[in-house]
Amino acid sequence: MDPHKDVVRRGYDALSYLYRGDAEEPKHYATWLAQLQERVPAGGSVLDLGCGCGVPLARDLAASGYAVTGVDLSAVQIRRARQLVPTARFLHADATQLSFPPSSFDAVVSLYALIHMPLGEQPPLLDRIGCWLRPGGWFLVTTGHSLHEGPRRWSSCYRTAATAPSTARTTAPSGQRPTPSPAPSPSSSNAEPRRPVPMGSWSGAGRARRGGPRGCG
Ligand SMILES: C[S@@+](CC[C@H](N)C(=O)[O-])C[C@H]1O[C@@H](n2cnc3c(N)ncnc32)[C@H](O)[C@@H]1O
Repeated sequence: MDPHKDVVRRGYDALSYLYRGDAEEPKHYATWLAQLQERVPAGGSVLDLGCGCGVPLARDLAASGYAVTGVDLSAVQIRRARQLVPTARFLHADATQLSFPPSSFDAVVSLYALIHMPLGEQPPLLDRIGCWLRPGGWFLVTTGHSLHEGPRRWSSCYRTAATAPSTARTTAPSGQRPTPSPAPSPSSSNAEPRRPVPMGSWSGAGRARRGGPRGCG
């Protein structure tokens, strides 16, 4: 494993419980969860990349009837997730190395995880996410607002085009810029982001692409 990822993996193995308690209810996740549920009916399939210990997102989605697949690099996070959310499926894997069939999910979520991945691996992962999403599917993500893996993050959400074929590619949205929100830390994970971005403001950003060079990876 490359040294950068190994630091991240070992870090979350060591800090899993400090970052998130078993029964924590971080407030700002409830807003994101509600917005996702407005768009994806219960029963839909959701992929959570960098799911952590599954609390709160995988837990709350699974309890609401969604078919959740969580993926995380940290063995400790995945072991906890399997205990805390027994009705979801969890994979101990590097999100950048995953492969799923086209149109496997109604939504993909990645909260505070993409920013840990090497910059060069993010664009191809975004391409694959666009491919894994069903046409009209939703992508809920926190990202860096500039080219670094550092602590400043933005909240934003993208949607694949309703008419997109299975090899749809998620593209950068045009028009509005996202609004910054502060990064949570172990000591402030209940802090409310100052101005969460309404997911709807980022809809319609998908672009169809047939037979792209990377496929679904
Ligand atoms: C800040 S935590 C966020 C966890 C969860 N998404 C949440 O919001 O509570 C970041 C998580 O991303 C995971 N992660 C980082 N890089 C990853 C990768 N390449 N593949 C899968 N998971 C990764 C870490 O192990 C960690 O559990």
